[in-house]
Amino acid sequence: MSFNFDLDPKKIPVHVAIIMDGNGRWAKKRLLNRTKGHEKGAEAVRTVVRTSRELGVKYLTLYAFSTENWERPAAEIATLMFLLKKFLKNELKELQENNIRLNAIGQIDRLNLDVQEELNKTMDLTKNNTGMCLNLALSYGGRSEIIRMVHEVSKKVKDGAISISDITEELISKHLYTFNIPDPDLLIRTSGEMRISNFLLWQIAYCEIFVTETLWPDFSKEEYIKILRAYQNRERRFGKV
Ligand code: FPP
Repeated sequence: MSFNFDLDPKKIPVHVAIIMDGNGRWAKKRLLNRTKGHEKGAEAVRTVVRTSRELGVKYLTLYAFSTENWERPAAEIATLMFLLKKFLKNELKELQENNIRLNAIGQIDRLNLDVQEELNKTMDLTKNNTGMCLNLALSYGGRSEIIRMVHEVSKKVKDGAISISDITEELISKHLYTFNIPDPDLLIRTSGEMRISNFLLWQIAYCEIFVTETLWPDFSKEEYIKILRAYQNRERRFGKV
């Protein structure tokens, strides 16, 4: 692969996570319905997936639907589910051609059955792809993920399968949705909000965070590369000197 992006190919983050925010504001600014913002947001998803693969990112996690998003009006939830299903159907070919595996984290059993079916089908068809993992956070919440982990681990202690002293950082990581995915190196949030919004609470312990004012539908390949460049110029110390 030739690298023309003024990036160091050896310092590409292994795992990039993105809080895609600002679809609603993008639409409002243009006096459009929020649906239009989500539609344009789905196009930005396509761009970021393509670019990540091209640059050699190994894991890309996108916060597509949070546990809190269930509180939105039913029509908006239906739009997001529709767009997700459409994305899965439309992108299958591209995922296969680019050797991308689809994974999902979150309360998948709360999603509409037709979306679950499409998701399971896509995950199954792409399961042997090794170029990149596209990880969609769907009905995902960091706290509920932690509660689920505590339930699993305490049951194992109760059943005598493990003892309390076996509970290490590694054991906890193995009981999260992301058990088979390394922690993110870089977290990007669009639309200027300085919040984590219940995203990957355990996993972002040492993650570099970049917040951009750009609204998600306007997030471009050029801006992504600019953030990766800034990331490469940061010194990661993991708490050491
Ligand atoms: C935030 O915008 C975005 C979401 C709630 C979900 C992200 C969804 C997409 C990008 C579209 C479909 C996804 C896929 C994977 C195809 P907001 O509505 O919170 O914006 P606002 O804060 O400006 O109102």
